Amino acid sequence: MPVTSLFTSASHQEQAIAHLFVIVLIWMGVILALVTGLVTYIVIVYRKKGEGEPRQVFGNRRLELIWTAGPILLLIYIFIATVHTIAVSDPRTANRSPEMTIIAHQWWWEVHYTGTGVVTANEIHFPVGKPMLVEFKSADVIHDFWVPALGRKVDIIPGHPNRLWIDVDRAGTYLGTCAEYCGAEHAWMRIRVIAQPPAQFDQWEREQEQIPPEPTTGDAAAGLALFRALPCINCHTIRGLGPTPSLAPDLTHLASRETLAAGRLKNTPQNLAAWLRDPGYFKPGTQMPNLRLSNEQVNDLVAYLETLR
Ligand code: CUA
Repeated sequence: MPVTSLFTSASHQEQAIAHLFVIVLIWMGVILALVTGLVTYIVIVYRKKGEGEPRQVFGNRRLELIWTAGPILLLIYIFIATVHTIAVSDPRTANRSPEMTIIAHQWWWEVHYTGTGVVTANEIHFPVGKPMLVEFKSADVIHDFWVPALGRKVDIIPGHPNRLWIDVDRAGTYLGTCAEYCGAEHAWMRIRVIAQPPAQFDQWEREQEQIPPEPTTGDAAAGLALFRALPCINCHTIRGLGPTPSLAPDLTHLASRETLAAGRLKNTPQNLAAWLRDPGYFKPGTQMPNLRLSNEQVNDLVAYLETLR
């Protein structure tokens, strides 16, 4: 089970930022040691021994030069290192059109892949070694996209799209969170980044483009009819079923995901059933209503949703 870790790095953008942080930390440590060391030394060595005023000293050109030029040089060095880090971690986006759009909602993530039109939610697939320009938008309040292993962090502000290059170097699963308080379920607005080698990523994208076949028999067929008849279809898109609202996560390939409800639950049929019975139990405040479904309805809906691979 991966954890949200501040100490994993999966991107040279993250490495550049971490490197700058360590350099500045070391310099600050040296200065702290120097200043406190000298103060302690002076306090001990020159403590008052006799009576009367101590001898007064005024000015020392060499010392003045050292403690003026030293900090200036250090600041110039940190400035250059910072500009370099910005260039590496935040390259210009110019007039490019973004490869992806991520829309933050209370409390989940909507993910669009521009080229293929693939739409998914909460679990974001990236190809390794291929920089992706991502545009971030908000559907409601201010959120913040933060996957520590990828380094960059960006506020998502209503009416003001922000852009970010995301360039993953290493395949793996990396967790992130919304990092700006956005309401009751802010803590359960998790991000799961799945970085795959380009061939695997293309394969995933091709699978996502497909529309899963509609079940025609059994509980699953009954579940499909229920999904159409109940309010589910007013908020959730399942491609092939008609309208494509984006008020709630796209469920076209729900069963292929690892988690439910933005990382709240592991995606198992049991958890899906529990979620349908009472979403507010797991995420108090969630926009998903409790439809007071009967056990049979839950059973049929789960049978249908599990076909959405
Ligand atoms: Cu979205 Cu906090």
